[in-house]
Order: sequence, then C-alpha cells, then structure tokens
Amino acid sequence: MVKPNLKVKIGGLELKNPVTVASGTFGSGEEYKKLVDLNKLGAIVTKSVTLKPREGNPPPRVVETPSGMLNSIGLQNDGIDAFIKDKIPFLNKVKTAVIVSIAAHRIEDYAAIARKLDKIKGVDAIEINISCPNVKGGLEFAREPDSAAAVVRAVRAVSKKPLITKLSPNVKDITEIAMAAEEAGSDAVSLVNTFTGMAIDIGAKRPILGNIVGGLSGPAIKPIALRMVWETAKKVKIPVIGMGGIMDHEDALEFIIAGASAIQVGTANFVNPGAAVEIIGGIERYMRQEKIKNIKELTGCLKT
Ligand code: SIN
Repeated sequence: MVKPNLKVKIGGLELKNPVTVASGTFGSGEEYKKLVDLNKLGAIVTKSVTLKPREGNPPPRVVETPSGMLNSIGLQNDGIDAFIKDKIPFLNKVKTAVIVSIAAHRIEDYAAIARKLDKIKGVDAIEINISCPNVKGGLEFAREPDSAAAVVRAVRAVSKKPLITKLSPNVKDITEIAMAAEEAGSDAVSLVNTFTGMAIDIGAKRPILGNIVGGLSGPAIKPIALRMVWETAKKVKIPVIGMGGIMDHEDALEFIIAGASAIQVGTANFVNPGAAVEIIGGIERYMRQEKIKNIKELTGCLKT
C-alpha cells in the first residue's frame, strides 16, 4: 500500500500530519530539540504569550493526581517582545508549522499581541487562549458566547493569520462558545483546556497548589474531552482540534473518529517527550492495517 496521506488543513494552513503538541507542555520546542525530531510534528503550539512578562503563580505549581495532573503555572512568560526576539529565530529553523498561543486579560491586549505577530514570518497561525483557569479572569472570555466572539473579532481585525480559538470545558455548553468563535471569524477551535480542580494536603490541612486551584489534565479527563469534541464537531463547520488526555495513537484515533481534524498531545509530553512522534507512527500503522489512504476519511467517521 502507498504511504497513507496524513496531511490536514486548518483554515489556510496545511499540516503535514494531524499530531501537534499542546501549548504549555512543550515550551517553544527548543527545550525538546535533543529528545525529539521536531520536524516530524504536525505543528508546535507554543506556551501562551502575554503582552507583558508574567512571573506566574506561587509554587507548588504542579501536582500529580490519579491518572492526571493539576497545573497552576499562571501564564509565566517573558512577554511578546522577548518571545519574538528570543524564540522566533529557533522556531524559524524548524520544518514544521508554528502556532503561537496568546493570552490576555483585556481584549485590546489580545489584539496588540496579534498585531505584533501578524508581521512575523514563520508564525503560521495563532491560537487564542481564552480558557486559562489559573489566572484571575483568565477564563472569563471563554464562559459566554458574546465575550468569546468579541476576542476573536478583535484579533481577526488585526491579523490575517489562521486563528484557532482554545475553549474551556468549564462552561455550561462548549458547543455554543465554539459556534460563536466560528461566527466571529475563527478558522478552527481547539478543545479542551483543563478542568478546574484542587488537591489538599490532609496533614497540613492546606491546598497543595500555591494558587489553591489548578487545571486538571491527563487520561482522567479523556472521556469528557472526547464527548465535548464529538458534540462540537457536529455543530461547527470549521476544523476542531481535539485534546484532553491523549497518551497514545489509540487515544488520538478516538478523537479523530469523533470529529477532530487534528489533535494536541499535552500531559503525555511530560511522561514521554517522544509521545507525539510515536503517535504519528501509530496512526500511520493503523491506516495501513485498515487500508485507509487519507486521514480525512477517518475524521468524524463515527458510526452511531
Ligand atoms: C498556565 O499557564 O497556568 C496554564 C495555561 C492554560 O491552562 O491555559
């Protein structure tokens, strides 16, 4: 059988395969360059960048939980100007798509960051993170269709890059937020970000995380994330990028069959930096076994 075609399109952006790495779990790729052949990835999604530098939340910031982890990093980053100066030169050398995740507290700040990125060659798309549960107000834009749409419209007005809106599962109906983002001009939606959660040290009778609460990710959330991706893919015409506890190629295939055009590997990167590359190989093997020529035949092929 000829090599299966794994190429997918996200708006105007073509990815060589549907396997990307989730924001906040892979730095800007450089940290992983000795461990992983970055050129094999469908895309690198960078850690969310804000307009000004942020120190992040007080430690501890990460705690392992049954089948998952809580993080409460608090969007630590050096700000957009340092990102452009320090990270873009490396990212320009990697032969894979670069999706820059952006976060803000104010709509005008999202627009200001996007305006700066619009001029940068080598930034292939922007992921608009409206769903960080770890900073005050970080989730506000993801909660209601109108506020989500307002952010997307503001970014759309200043950027020609493909836009992906990253949605929160901590909402009443994620499909309404996805439809609002589509209507406002988003080229794709990515879901889900983490679920708000907490862990308590019963000896100290204190929260373990410095920020008290954090975002739960990993296999523990996979069935819920999968259900949300399936529901959302039925409601929007734009591509859905699925994530939430994907550890291996079988998990990835579940998301694709549920309706995801592409997937993001997140928590698995902390356990096995090679996870995403192994997932690409696993998808290709599955396609050969099942005699599937094009990954698009699999997207949303769920029989119900
Ligand atoms: C963080 O920096 O706290 C995580 C980012 C996110 O959950 O969107």
